[in-house]
Amino acid sequence: MTANTTNIKSLAIIGTGVMGMGIAQIAAQAGIQVLLFDAKTGAAAQGRQSLQTMLEKLTAKGKFTDAQLQSTLANLIVIDDIAKISIVDVIVEAIVENLEIKQQLFKQLESIVSTKTILATNTSSLAVTAIAADCAHPERVAGFHFFNPVPLMKIVEVIPGLSTHPSVVETLTALATHMGHLGVVAKDTPGFIVNHGGRAYGTEALKILGEGVASFEDIDRILRKGAGFRMGPFELLDLTGIDVSHPVMESVYNQFYSEARYRPHPLTRQMLIGKKLGRKVGEGFYQYEEGQKITANTPQQSSFEVSVSDAAITSVWIGADLVEDRQQLVDYLYSNNINIDDNDKPHSDSLILLAMYGEDTTNAAMRYQVNPKQAVAIDMLTDLSMHRTLMPSIVTQDKFVAQAYALFGKSPDKTINENKELIQSTAGATLINESTGFVTQRVIAMVVNLGCDIALQGIASPNDIDKAVKLGLGYPYGPISWGDELGAERILLILTRIYALTGDPRYRPSPWLQRRATLGISLFTQQTQYS
Ligand code: NAI
Repeated sequence: MTANTTNIKSLAIIGTGVMGMGIAQIAAQAGIQVLLFDAKTGAAAQGRQSLQTMLEKLTAKGKFTDAQLQSTLANLIVIDDIAKISIVDVIVEAIVENLEIKQQLFKQLESIVSTKTILATNTSSLAVTAIAADCAHPERVAGFHFFNPVPLMKIVEVIPGLSTHPSVVETLTALATHMGHLGVVAKDTPGFIVNHGGRAYGTEALKILGEGVASFEDIDRILRKGAGFRMGPFELLDLTGIDVSHPVMESVYNQFYSEARYRPHPLTRQMLIGKKLGRKVGEGFYQYEEGQKITANTPQQSSFEVSVSDAAITSVWIGADLVEDRQQLVDYLYSNNINIDDNDKPHSDSLILLAMYGEDTTNAAMRYQVNPKQAVAIDMLTDLSMHRTLMPSIVTQDKFVAQAYALFGKSPDKTINENKELIQSTAGATLINESTGFVTQRVIAMVVNLGCDIALQGIASPNDIDKAVKLGLGYPYGPISWGDELGAERILLILTRIYALTGDPRYRPSPWLQRRATLGISLFTQQTQYS
């Protein structure tokens, strides 16, 4: 059998809701006969009808041929009697997420099918081992965890429980490939790969918001424009719904016995209680009208306006942790005809630019032994060509903030304000309050660290972790390749400093990251297994 063929000719879907019908669609399109069963009378027929209507529309638009439409529809067979599933090779369960109900169903399925039939569950948060616990043949039970919407999210986690036979994993992985999806194998652990790897983004953004570092709009903008995430964390929480996201955050945290890396935030719990659930109710972090975000009217920091006279720069003194960052900043200053102050101690008129990692501006100013009143820090983790983040200290004088903002928030637009002053629009930078590590440094370092720790725990191979998180969450990079791209040493430096300054075990670097950064080797490197 080659990777993209399968000996599976038929399957049954139990539970024809959103996920069940998505899985049914890709299986039927791949030429597999699919029996559709739902406990609710008429639900399977209704699910099939909705899918048919959607496929007919796609055919009318030329996305499918008529022959493809007909063969797909012919493969979708509604059954009213669950006993009819006795003939299929694989059963995929996609019913309500409740352990007892799933356990009961699996017992019932075993009484209908042969001992060879594979029983797969699409559970996203329950242990596969627990679902199989009461089965007579737990060796044929495995997780087959798809993502919504199934036809577009071309990834599926294949999860063996403690008793699952390796051949079941092989069959499901080959079936995934046959249906056009990438099957990645994950250990039966809370959140598997994707929902585990995704814990860093939202929880760290919430922690940053909770510390008063920046508004949620500014955090979203920094992570979209500065780090390349498709959606900001607060836009994503609103879209997914706080009623879905918060319980997942709590569940993963509790299942790992209060591991600080996954710690949820009280704010989303409060929003859940206060029914500010996100887009679907018209209000979450943002407000919505007819599903569209309403732009906030309150002035944001990002609208900080700089009068050109205030922003006139005498010279700039640079304190950079990394030689390459210093060079980038020097080039940038030269290209903008700015004088560089290269004295050992900065002149009292110089703007002090600090390009540091995992630290706030106050601490960095002390380390560089410079006056914090002149200091503005700049995040150099992501490229200077991206949206920049500037962090003045608590005592930085306004004129130095204005200088840094005018320099890095450059935009071609210039306008005149009501006092007839020339105003530079500064869309290219966001100012944040003091934070131990910048927004992108904290969030990306946590994403990479979590990916590394998933590898350390042997939940999946580094390659599968990388692909699953990228495809499942739509991140610009997988966590392992992102670490390699930005440099494992830099990520380690960020985490080591934040951990030392905050004492919060959430930030302790994973040994997987620590060793590879120290050796200067790729984060994908796996050790030969000696024991
Ligand atoms: P859904 O509510 O859209 O569909 C569930 C269907 O199962 C309903 O049609 C219901 O009538 C039927 N059902 C309930 N109990 C049943 C039983 N005992 N026997 C037969 N049918 C039964 O739910 P959805 O969103 O499709 O989720 C299904 C499963 O997939 C859950 O385990 C969920 O955790 C998992 N999942 C959901 C994802 C999502 O984004 N919605 C993503 C990945 C996994």
